[in-house]
Amino acid sequence: MFFIKQKQTKQTWDLAKGIGKIELSDGNDTKKQLEMIGLTSKDLDVIHALQPFIKEKLDMIANQYYRDLEQEPSLLKIIQDNSTTDRLKRTLKQHLLEMFTGTINEEFIEKRIRIAHMHVKIGLPTKWYMAAFQNLLLSIITIIVENLTNTDDRLMAIQAATKIINFEQQLVLE
Ligand code: HEM
Repeated sequence: MFFIKQKQTKQTWDLAKGIGKIELSDGNDTKKQLEMIGLTSKDLDVIHALQPFIKEKLDMIANQYYRDLEQEPSLLKIIQDNSTTDRLKRTLKQHLLEMFTGTINEEFIEKRIRIAHMHVKIGLPTKWYMAAFQNLLLSIITIIVENLTNTDDRLMAIQAATKIINFEQQLVLE
């Protein structure tokens, strides 16, 4: 039932604080982009704390990601022309683990710019890129809900996950 407000338990998720790091120079655009979406080092603490849950389900995420891509013949063709299923899954898993380390620095930004160039090179249309991000986000939200029972924790985690995905989109879709 949608309208019954459940009695909340106290926040239970034990978050290590001070691990998340933003190491970017003041005044550069990427730092302003983070500020615009309110992605703080506290969010990165949360992102880091989510990493073990993501790690545990990497295969599930990669399989679902590939199943989604497969449904669009033009994407299947791009993959067959430029890569293999196994390589793509491996790349995605590695990338996701890195996305959840909780550090955003110049290396993080440069890597995303390289990835963006790679997708331009293979001719990936933006609409499919965005669709893939959406499906990735849904997998991440499912994992959060499965692992965290407290509503405040879930909200905090989902907010942090949407911010990191959005930031990544800002970098690769520019
Ligand atoms: C390459 C991530 C969407 C096809 C890559 C790389 C990463 C990545 C990390 C490796 C880049 C490098 O080696 O420098 C992502 C993420 C996506 C996404 C996070 C969105 C959520 C897509 C989509 C396709 C695709 C929708 C569909 C065709 C490829 C191909 C390569 C590649 C063919 C190059 C070959 C390879 O590394 O095996 N992607 N990608 N990607 N991506 Fe994506």
